[in-house]
Amino acid sequence: MRHPSLCVLLLTLLAACTDRMSPSDDRWGRSGELIAMSGGEGGARYACVSCHGARGEGNGFDAPRLAGLPAGYLQKQLEDYALGLRPHAVMRDVARFLDSHERVRVANHYAALPVPLGPAPAAQAPALYARTCQQCHGADGTGTPQGPPLAGQPAFYLAQQLQDWQVSKRRNDGNHEMLKVAQALSGTEVEELSRFLARLPPRPAPAVH
Ligand code: HEC
Ligand code: HEC
Repeated sequence: MRHPSLCVLLLTLLAACTDRMSPSDDRWGRSGELIAMSGGEGGARYACVSCHGARGEGNGFDAPRLAGLPAGYLQKQLEDYALGLRPHAVMRDVARFLDSHERVRVANHYAALPVPLGPAPAAQAPALYARTCQQCHGADGTGTPQGPPLAGQPAFYLAQQLQDWQVSKRRNDGNHEMLKVAQALSGTEVEELSRFLARLPPRPAPAVH
């Protein structure tokens, strides 16, 4: 453990979690939370909280926010990491240590966590976003049934995903829409879109009247 303070935080969380346990607790939800804090079979080095944050908010760099993402999307990513359709050394090992039931439980746990609230968006969407991306990811980047939320994910993470699709490293979307979309983007466009999406609030604050 590189950060003693993180260790203390983890222990506190674990204690808080244990305190709340009672025989009437939802078995599925609780075990998802335990996997998030303890890493399941893989042990502490695979505890999700150590990279994705205590509330699933992400690390602002390479590990995305998980809180409030659709459960089906999260579960699919874990399957894809395990299968190698979305190659990533760390997440492959994380996913392979979970069986399919545990993947469902930890996905449900993160999907149920509140999405962090952000200020109303200030930046106007680049014309390219409105033309090429918003039909699936939504005008405010909070996702549609055709594409997951992107708003407020770290710019580095978003750019990495688009670059992975450009070289067909990530190849896990069913109809290869993202492959086609990403391969049509220039390096500058990848940067511009990633910076724009990272500045969008994950969940815009309601307008004050
Ligand atoms: C050592 C750090 C680390 C740990 C531990 C870790 N992750 Fe990750 N996770 C990452 C990184 C880095 C990425 C981005 C990988 C990529 O570029 O595809 C990621 C990506 C993901 C994604 C993809 C999200 C998206 O928006 O597409 C999911 C889902 C995920 N992790 C779930 C988990 C779960 C559940 C656990 C615990 C069982 C966990 N992770 C543990 C570092 C970690
Ligand atoms: C036809 C629908 C569609 C269009 C158009 C589209 N996307 Fe996607 N996008 C998807 C789907 C579906 C996924 C999730 C694929 C999977 O299961 O991993 C995705 C995933 C992503 C991800 C990875 C999210 C994560 O959490 O890892 C990024 C980044 C992304 N899209 C950016 C863009 C950008 C930028 C554009 C426009 C240039 C765009 N998309 C256009 C459907 C679309």
